[in-house]
Amino acid sequence: MTERLTARQLDRAADLLRGGGVVAFPTETVFGLGGSCFSEKGIESIFHAKGRPSDNPLIVHLAEMEQLHQVCNTVPEIAYRLIEALTPGPLTIVLEKNKSVPHSVTAGLESVAVRFPSHPIAQQLLRLADIPIAAPSANRSGGPSGTTWQSVLEDLDGRIDAIVCEEGCQVGVESTVVDLQSNPPRILRLGSISYVQLSKFIPNLQFVEEGDKGKVNSPGLRHRHYQPRSRVQIVDLNSSPSPSIPSQEKVAYIGIDPPGTLGQFAMQCLCKDVEEYAARMYEFMREADRNGISQLYCQSVPLDGLGAALMDRLRRASQE
Ligand code: TXA
Ligand code: MG
Repeated sequence: MTERLTARQLDRAADLLRGGGVVAFPTETVFGLGGSCFSEKGIESIFHAKGRPSDNPLIVHLAEMEQLHQVCNTVPEIAYRLIEALTPGPLTIVLEKNKSVPHSVTAGLESVAVRFPSHPIAQQLLRLADIPIAAPSANRSGGPSGTTWQSVLEDLDGRIDAIVCEEGCQVGVESTVVDLQSNPPRILRLGSISYVQLSKFIPNLQFVEEGDKGKVNSPGLRHRHYQPRSRVQIVDLNSSPSPSIPSQEKVAYIGIDPPGTLGQFAMQCLCKDVEEYAARMYEFMREADRNGISQLYCQSVPLDGLGAALMDRLRRASQE
């Protein structure tokens, strides 16, 4: 039985975490599925609940700067500058792990990914638990992340000890992951903290190119990700000829511009800008699945700022 908790019951959630239990909680990006970073039982339960491949490492969530040294060895100067300027917020930094972090958290790597979330509930829970909390996104492995507690329960009810039933995943896509262990530093995953923002601090910042994703030390890049049951197809409304929509299928559309003459949609979601599109995307994918949609058409957006992160998720959701 998964306990439903409110923001007033975070002490209960913290007790569960400290005892090796697993608890889902909201962050400003997506819901996380937390477990104590130092509890083998907690870590094993996270992988089991999600059905996550054991070679995909977890992000360790921290509330206070002092906690950094509970999980990291040498912290380079640039890490402090990034943390100071851009966190708390949707940025994850890969650093050298110290020996107190079990290899089950890092999937055998000698590095550890750390993040200081800005969501007040996440922060309060981390402070009450008073331990670094490993937390992947709170969804079944391979599927879309959960941005509402109802969606998290849809995937994980009965498989986790508790969930904090509150809201607030305003960003809607997972944090930007930057690897400071590689030389030059690289972005492993795009999020709402953009390449341009980061390159102000790291002038020689690189991207991991599509073709290299199998080779780099971020095994998460290799796995199937973000895919709903309905097929995702990215559409460019400005392209001609416009894509043909099979009329016999139950189809859905999400984008910023109205689909115009593209076709008739059983479900449609129009967003005022890229921010709203990113924030609603995962929930719309899930809603499409609930409604038995066979194909989901997603409007492409320009590749700048959050648009690049949104397009990354849409591309991966659309991969066969
Ligand atoms: O916004 C987020 O980051 C959310 C919330 C809950 O904080 N978390 C999240 O976790 O998206 P997850 O497990 O779904 O994605 C973690 C990503 C994976 O791509 C993983 O491979 C990468 O971070 N990662 C974790 N530890 C790493 C490490 N030591 N080296 C390289 N990549 C790492
Ligand atoms: Mg995930």
